[in-house]
Amino acid sequence: MKPIAIDGDTRVLVLTGAGVSAESGIPTFRGTSGLWESHPVEKVASPEGFVEDPALVWRFYSQRREAAKAVRPNPGHDALARLEARLGDRFLLATQNVDGLHRRAGSERMVEMHGSLWKTRCSRCARAPFDDEASYDAQHLPACGQCHGKGEFALLRPDIVWFGERLRGEDLERIATFVAAAKGHRFVFLAVGTSGRVSPASELVRLAKANGAESWLVNLEAPDNVAAFDHVITGASGEALPQLLD
Ligand code: OAD
Repeated sequence: MKPIAIDGDTRVLVLTGAGVSAESGIPTFRGTSGLWESHPVEKVASPEGFVEDPALVWRFYSQRREAAKAVRPNPGHDALARLEARLGDRFLLATQNVDGLHRRAGSERMVEMHGSLWKTRCSRCARAPFDDEASYDAQHLPACGQCHGKGEFALLRPDIVWFGERLRGEDLERIATFVAAAKGHRFVFLAVGTSGRVSPASELVRLAKANGAESWLVNLEAPDNVAAFDHVITGASGEALPQLLD
């Protein structure tokens, strides 16, 4: 496999999805052994599901916290961290993953578009999300201390962007600013391990191409938006990324 041509002027925007963490042992969402097969998405990943059964939602995310603690970044995460070390501010990683494995591999210039498994926030007030690795069960659901101080009751919730919720404006702006600055330079857009089913992440390839990017895809199988890519590598990211990027 020939590496992607990346010179001293090249800007690289990378979009990752669950596939990049699959070789670490984290299940993806869609497909026969995907998380959404055994956990109905509307029950565990929507604001309505949280109101209906917060214990079920916290059990799901507590299990995911424990599962993510038990695994390690794989050579795909490592290759992206090395590329960032080479490019500095000419690199940006937009990840849909909430597992924190990119950060553990050393990635810093990163937008966690769908939030983070390692942060918790209030379901009611606007206090900033805070670091939290705990697991919660039905008997000990966490409540917001700040709301309690004002005589209100509100449960804390995972800082994940659920279905039906908007992505954070500052995250989308950071990506848009990077894309605008990349225009006029050699610009590479690389999507890795994502089914291209969830917007706006799935729209990034079109945005990048509209701004002059050459588009690359590394995925185990052809996703819905495969036609948008100039170069498609069908394979596992842990094997392909070190060859493509080093
Ligand atoms: P999906 O589960 O939809 O897709 C994962 C993709 O990765 C599939 O196309 C697989 O073929 C591919 N894949 C699996 N193993 C791979 C490997 N080793 N190397 C390369 N590719 C591999 O996951 P996402 O596209 O990330 O949102 O899903 C997008 C969003 O939908 C998620 O962020 C999540 C979900 O609902 C929230 O939870 C908010």
